[in-house]
Amino acid sequence: IKRSLSTSSPMNAVIKNVTVIGGGLMGSGIAQVAAQTGHNVTIVEVNPDLIKKAEDSIAKNLVRVAKKLHKDDPQAANKFVSESQARIKGCTDIAEAVKDSDLVVEAIVENMDVKHKLFKNLDEVAPPKTMFASNTSSLSITEIASVTKRKDRFGGLHFFNPVPVMKLLEVVRTPETSQETYEAFMAWGKAVGKTCVTCKDTPGFIVNRLLVPYIAEAIRMMERGDASPRDIDTAMKLGAGYPMGPIELADYVGHDTSHAIMQGWHKKFPDNPLFKPNESVQKLIDEKKLGVKTGEGFYKYT
Ligand code: CAA
Ligand code: NAD
Repeated sequence: IKRSLSTSSPMNAVIKNVTVIGGGLMGSGIAQVAAQTGHNVTIVEVNPDLIKKAEDSIAKNLVRVAKKLHKDDPQAANKFVSESQARIKGCTDIAEAVKDSDLVVEAIVENMDVKHKLFKNLDEVAPPKTMFASNTSSLSITEIASVTKRKDRFGGLHFFNPVPVMKLLEVVRTPETSQETYEAFMAWGKAVGKTCVTCKDTPGFIVNRLLVPYIAEAIRMMERGDASPRDIDTAMKLGAGYPMGPIELADYVGHDTSHAIMQGWHKKFPDNPLFKPNESVQKLIDEKKLGVKTGEGFYKYT
C-alpha cells in the first residue's frame, strides 16, 4: 500500500476559514491538514497550555511531513512548515474564534452532554453562514445537531488517527443535511487531501461499526487467555495484513475514547454482544492508563 500525504491541494472556494474545537489527538491533526492545504485555522482549547501543546504537536508532525515532501530541499521544507504554522492561531474564546468562520469542526470529548453544551453556545455566536461538523466516532450526528437551529448546515466529518497520514474522510449526512452543505463538505475533504466516502448517520458510520467490535473481540480473546496480546497483534499483522494489531490499535486510539464508544452503544443496544464493554479497559481507565497518549495502556510507551 502506498501512502501519500495531504499537501497543497487547491483551496476550496466555499470554505476558507476553519475553526477546530479541541486541540487533542484529532483536533491538532485536523488543524494541521487544513493549514498545510492553505486554509486559515483557529484552534479552540480550554486553556492556553493546551493550545501550546496542540501547536507543539503540530510543529513536530509538520516537520515529518515537510521532510518527506522536500527530501532534498531543506529550505523548501522550512518554508512549508513556517507557512503552515502561520495559518494557525489558538484561541480560548469561542465567540472570537468563530466570528468569520466558514466551517467549525468539533473534536472534543466523546460525550453527548458536553457536545450539546458546546453546539448550543456555538449556534448563538457563529454567523449564519458557518457550517458545523462533528468528528464524533460513535454518536448520532442528528442528535448532536438537535440543539442548533442550523440542522441543514450540520453534518459529520469523521477523520482517522493519525490525521496527517490516514487518507480517508467519512462525510456523514443526516436527513436534514442540505445538498449544498454535503457538497461543500465533500469538496473541502478533497481540498485537505482526503478521499471521501459518504455514509448515513448510523452508529460508527462505516469504519468504526466494523473496527470497534473487532478490537473489543480481540481484547475479549486476551481476557480469556486464549492468546497473548503480542501474539494477537502479530497474528493480525502477518495473517491479515493490518498495519497494527488490534491491541496496539486500542492503545493508539485511546481507551477513554473507545470505552465511551462502547458504553454508549451498549446502553442503546443492550442485546448486542458485540457492544459489551471490556472489563480490562475499565481497569486501565481507572489506573489512568489511556494508551499511547498517557505513555501506557495494554503496552508501555517510552
Ligand atoms: N504525522 C505525520 N506523519 C506521521 C504521523 C503523524 N502523526 N504518524 C506517522 N507518520 C508517518 C511517519 O513519518 C512515516 O513516514 P515514512 O513512511 O515516510 O517514514 C509513516 O507515517 C509511517 O510511520 P511509522 O514508520 O512511524 O510507523 P508505521 O509504518 O507503523 O505507521 C501508522 C504508523 C500510520 C500509524 C500505521 O501503523 C497505521 O496505519 N496504523 C493503523 C492506524 C489506524 O487504523 N487508524 C484508525 C484508527 S480508528 C480511528 O481513527 C477512528 C475512530 O473514530 C476511533
Ligand atoms: P482528546 O482527548 O485527545 O482531545 C480532546 C480535546 O478537546 C482535549 O484537548 C480537551 O481539552 C478539548 N476540549 C474538551 N472540551 C472542550 C471544549 N468545550 N472546548 C474546547 N476544547 C475542549 O480526544 P480525541 O482522541 O482527539 O477525540 C476527539 C473527538 O474525536 C471525539 O469525539 C472522538 O470520538 C473523535 N475521534 C477520535 C479518534 C481517535 O482515534 N482518538 C478518531 C476519530 C474520531
